Amino acid sequence: MAATERVLSGFRPSGPLHIGHLVGALQNWVAMQADYQCYFAICDWHALTSEYAHTERLREYVFEMALDWLAAGLDPDRSTLFVQSQIKEHAELHLLLSMIVPLGWLERVPTYKEQQQQVIGRDLTNYGFLGYPVLQAADILSYKAHWVPVGEDQLSHLELCREIVRRFNSLYSPVFPEPQPKTTPVSRLPGTDGRKMSKSYNNAIYLSDTEAEVKRKILPMVTDPARVRRSDPGNPDVCPVFTLHKAFSSESTLATVDRECRRAGIGCLDCKGFLLDHMNPRLGPLRERRTSLATHPERVREILDGGATRARKMASATLEEVRNAVRI
Ligand code: TRP
Ligand code: SF4
Repeated sequence: MAATERVLSGFRPSGPLHIGHLVGALQNWVAMQADYQCYFAICDWHALTSEYAHTERLREYVFEMALDWLAAGLDPDRSTLFVQSQIKEHAELHLLLSMIVPLGWLERVPTYKEQQQQVIGRDLTNYGFLGYPVLQAADILSYKAHWVPVGEDQLSHLELCREIVRRFNSLYSPVFPEPQPKTTPVSRLPGTDGRKMSKSYNNAIYLSDTEAEVKRKILPMVTDPARVRRSDPGNPDVCPVFTLHKAFSSESTLATVDRECRRAGIGCLDCKGFLLDHMNPRLGPLRERRTSLATHPERVREILDGGATRARKMASATLEEVRNAVRI
């Protein structure tokens, strides 16, 4: 029965969430709450794997992430929202799993070499970073999750998690189900400069941005580069503004923009105005919830403590089984 199947997912608290996270992940998580028993972890240990030398704002980021999640509609009455480092069982399971994971499995995870090459200003030759996917497997397996909603970039971590499950189950006893990924079909949102939306590119629209800030970011946004003058016809297929329309606007607005852009019937400023007309009613309520929660930090702490209590209950039952299986 669906309601008894468990879902686990998480984010690293590395800064405020943007509308790309909302459309690509959070919305999907919010919907899954109706059909599954959901666990959502703010993975501060995972943040440490690369940010171990920059922890000044880590606690602030954890709190901000809780605000973003609650504002987006994750419901602490239905789902378990918690901070990873509050559940020590993840660390114990990580250690036990680390015994049965061959180094070669970790070295060939594509994100490992990629990140080592791409991330500048961080030394990622540390032990913890190599073990990143093992810690992720421990997050998932502490709850014996059946489903893991993740982006495409995380599929290799999920595959590794399944390999670990098979190895554990065959070495000891069949404790864990093999978790399946649930990817979101939504394409990545572009940022205001047309590149992928990302904090590091300084092109993101945050859930915490005010209506005025969103407008200030959208109006000068990059459009079809070939459309120079108002009288030039445009091509929505290559326009990042149109990609945002697809995520936020109604079918009828999409159809109008698609038609009128191609025959220069509307200008790009008109088009961005329509986009804002659709973004504002979607983001407004979220923003209000976020602002009102931010004035009650004690309420947010309570939610996270309550989540930790529930998470710990499940994780400690799992670890009891794990220790018996390993005979430790
Ligand atoms: N690695 C994930 C990311 O960067 C975050 C994460 C940590 C996670 N633990 C998880 C995702 C467990 C799914 C399940 O997005
Ligand atoms: Fe892009 Fe809209 Fe301008 Fe067309 S009218 S180029 S879709 S911003």
